[in-house]
Amino acid sequence: MTVPSAPFRRVAVIGLGLIGGSLASAIRTQQLAGMVTGFDTRQDELALGVELGVIDEAADSIEQAVKGSDLVVLAVPVRATRAVLEQIRPVIEEGAILSDVGSTKSSFVADVEAVFGELPPWVIPGHPIAGSEKSGIRAARPDLFTNHKVILTPAQNADQAGLNRLRTVWEGAGATVLTMSVGYHDEVLAATSHLPHLIAFSLVDTLAGEDENMDIFRYAAGGFRDFTRIAASDPVMWHDIFLSNRDAVLRVIDHFTEDLDQLRAAIACGDGATLLRVFSRAKAAREHFSKMLSGQAYVTNNSDKQVTFQMQPGGTVRGDIRVPGDKSMSHRSIMLGALAEGTTEVKGFLEGEDSLATLQAFRDMGVTIEGPDDGFVRIHGVGMKGLQAPRGPLYLGNSGTAMRLFAGLLAAQPFDSELTGDASLSKRPMGRVADPLRAMGAVIDTGEGGRPPLKIRGGHALTGIHYEMPVASAQVKSCLLLAGLYAEGVTSVTEPAPTRDHTERMLEGFGYHVHRDGATASVTGGGKLSACAIDVPADISSAAFFLVAASIAEDSDLTLRHVGMNPTRVGVINILKQMGANIEVFNEKVIGGEPVADLRVQSARLKGIDIPEEQVPLAIDEFPVLFIAAACAEGRTVLRGAEELRVKESDRIQVMADGLAALGVETTVTPDGIIIDGGQEIGGGTVESHGDHRISMSFAVASLRATGPIRINDCANVATSFPGFVDLALQTGIRINAEGSD
Ligand code: S3P
Repeated sequence: MTVPSAPFRRVAVIGLGLIGGSLASAIRTQQLAGMVTGFDTRQDELALGVELGVIDEAADSIEQAVKGSDLVVLAVPVRATRAVLEQIRPVIEEGAILSDVGSTKSSFVADVEAVFGELPPWVIPGHPIAGSEKSGIRAARPDLFTNHKVILTPAQNADQAGLNRLRTVWEGAGATVLTMSVGYHDEVLAATSHLPHLIAFSLVDTLAGEDENMDIFRYAAGGFRDFTRIAASDPVMWHDIFLSNRDAVLRVIDHFTEDLDQLRAAIACGDGATLLRVFSRAKAAREHFSKMLSGQAYVTNNSDKQVTFQMQPGGTVRGDIRVPGDKSMSHRSIMLGALAEGTTEVKGFLEGEDSLATLQAFRDMGVTIEGPDDGFVRIHGVGMKGLQAPRGPLYLGNSGTAMRLFAGLLAAQPFDSELTGDASLSKRPMGRVADPLRAMGAVIDTGEGGRPPLKIRGGHALTGIHYEMPVASAQVKSCLLLAGLYAEGVTSVTEPAPTRDHTERMLEGFGYHVHRDGATASVTGGGKLSACAIDVPADISSAAFFLVAASIAEDSDLTLRHVGMNPTRVGVINILKQMGANIEVFNEKVIGGEPVADLRVQSARLKGIDIPEEQVPLAIDEFPVLFIAAACAEGRTVLRGAEELRVKESDRIQVMADGLAALGVETTVTPDGIIIDGGQEIGGGTVESHGDHRISMSFAVASLRATGPIRINDCANVATSFPGFVDLALQTGIRINAEGSD
């Protein structure tokens, strides 16, 4: 049979075990070659191959299989490779591709070089990561590779067309193909596959040796089963693998033995802190891995993930809800809790990707953090001088707050560090923190144009300065105050307009005095922080979407609970009230130094206003959704003095104007603001959020007053600040459907 579009005419699979048999079977099922011929020294396996339909034809010899084939795949035990290559050499046809499926790649390359005198361009080593503890052709399945990875390790001079054809075969078998160097493959596999197999074999053997009747296994539960499943793997194959990947395996065994010894010592001397640190770091890593497996985002790069919101027009917003915890306070609770003496317990922590990035970064610097578990986090503080050097760059995802506040803290540490972020964060200005920190004595390199990554040199003493901030930024103020905790003398910062003061309030909560004198906040370096309890209120920035939603949608009545009402954050309420919104504030109280209240919001006829400039920093994150309110209001809304919006997660003035235009709403963009004439019809259409969480959610709210469906692209980053947004929106009556989410 010839399959015209198939990448190969005839494939020879040498060795019909689980992997060779499954590959042959996948090639046949998916018609990836005209025919598949198989060879195995075990006659019964070969006969079974034909009988089970795994191969088209059984060859009598390697020569017969290889002659006339344009792809030859070796699926023999690693240690048989050289002998088989000797037999292939005289008969392999010109133009054919030779590959393998072995678990170690340097040994395969060494065998090829020994037999052919070089690694020819038509030899492309491969390794499907799809083993199983089962073996033999009876276990072969055409879908064994579906959703598994196949690593190819082509040399620099590899035949590119051949590589592409081989890739097509594996992809046709359902696998995802990755390419990497031979050396890296062997290191990675030694750590992630070979070592776990060795430990599983060794553990089961140790336990079995303790008890001849193996009676103890009767009492073994799921943990034992999960952990030791791979000890039932093929001993011959694994003995081959360890001998072939000797050097890489020895390195990783040594590393593991050291770490195990450390745990042994911790148990011996009752050092619970070390156990807890290692276990919670491992738990976080394992959870990260599970999320990777299920395709969910954690604090890793979100940019590959595509989530689209499909909005149906209209609706009414009703209910009684609590939105997730405040992002700014969640970041700060981890930072100060980590540097405090004692254990800090946090309730209401935001489990969004931004604050999780901060949490992970402190774990990477040796801090033991339990949770988050339904908003509860316990931080075992290490004291002002207790942070350890991270093993690699600290990845801060989408979070400008994390990067700027970290810069202040890390500039004062004895170790070097590097801060990186996603595509959006990598475009944001960092000179605004790097410059004043340098004036304090810090040594910091930024990327081009003052952008991330930030490379911070440790071990430079800082001296307090007085800094007049050119822009009203809580992040810059907080960065300098945090650096000031470590600096010699007094560090003071004057702001041109009031910005959020969570850092100052929380420092006081941790027993560190912040002197405030009008627009200036100052700290004296050299003090210490004492652990405390923190109750994070619901984030007013997240509540804002629902405040606008219930205001603009007909017949709405919504209650929002326990919302943070810090006077430096309530701009959105002040502005909406001035526009005629019907918002009732009740149950006002102060918790842990931060005011909170419940809010009841009902539909209202909004009117356009000139937004008072002093409200801009107090509502800085809420403008995207306020623009939607303005579009639904009667008359003109004018915003000025808000150029900061252009350097947020996106250029929020332009991106909102473009999105509104896509829905038929014309606006006038100015360098520092926007003019919106309310009352224009909001039509249906497609909006680009540019990966900015607040843009996505704002247009979701706009759908309540739209006349047609709205599609919002690039919404994965909503998880940075508002996990569960889609569910809450649905629950209250917003007609949202998230496609492509997890
Ligand atoms: C934040 C401060 C604000 C705000 C950001 C969070 C903070 O940024 O936009 O979402 O937690 O300090 P700027 O201080 O740069 O205005």
